[in-house]
Amino acid sequence: MGGQKDGSKTENLIQAIMESTKMRLDLIKWAIAAMMAVGFALLTAIGPEAATAARVETPDDAAVYKAKCAMCHSPKAEKFYDPAKSEDEHVQIVLKGKKGEKPPYMPGYEEKGMTADEARSLVKYMDSLRKPN
Ligand code: HEC
Repeated sequence: MGGQKDGSKTENLIQAIMESTKMRLDLIKWAIAAMMAVGFALLTAIGPEAATAARVETPDDAAVYKAKCAMCHSPKAEKFYDPAKSEDEHVQIVLKGKKGEKPPYMPGYEEKGMTADEARSLVKYMDSLRKPN
């Protein structure tokens, strides 16, 4: 009797181990599937934006200035730019814009996605146009 009991105990134990192993495998499979789903969702959701952001992070100041600023400020930054003002002041104007008495008005570039670093970099570039060397 005792032997049989022991035998079924062992059997139960083996069954329990097998079941918990199977459960663990199921869990791992499920977790992998979930991670893949989330990863894929993230990729499709932010993929194109991340690519754009990476491009914006290393802007070519000369190219950006030519494309976005030169039409108002002239290619050599001779218009609407007072090099005597502080760099911080200039950065703020690039980010927030400035409405003068009549058009053209300086647009605010922060709402178009420009960062303070990018604005500062552009201001330095404008400064270099005004003061060669
Ligand atoms: C639609 C025309 C226009 C565009 C485009 C434009 N600006 Fe301006 N910007 C102005 C005008 C006008 C002012 C002067 C505003 C004032 O003082 O009333 C100005 C002022 C500034 C100033 C402050 C200069 C100073 O001494 O007060 C900076 C710096 C500047 N712009 C940088 C830029 C940069 C960088 C870009 C491109 C990313 C740009 N601007 C695009 C019209 C423009």
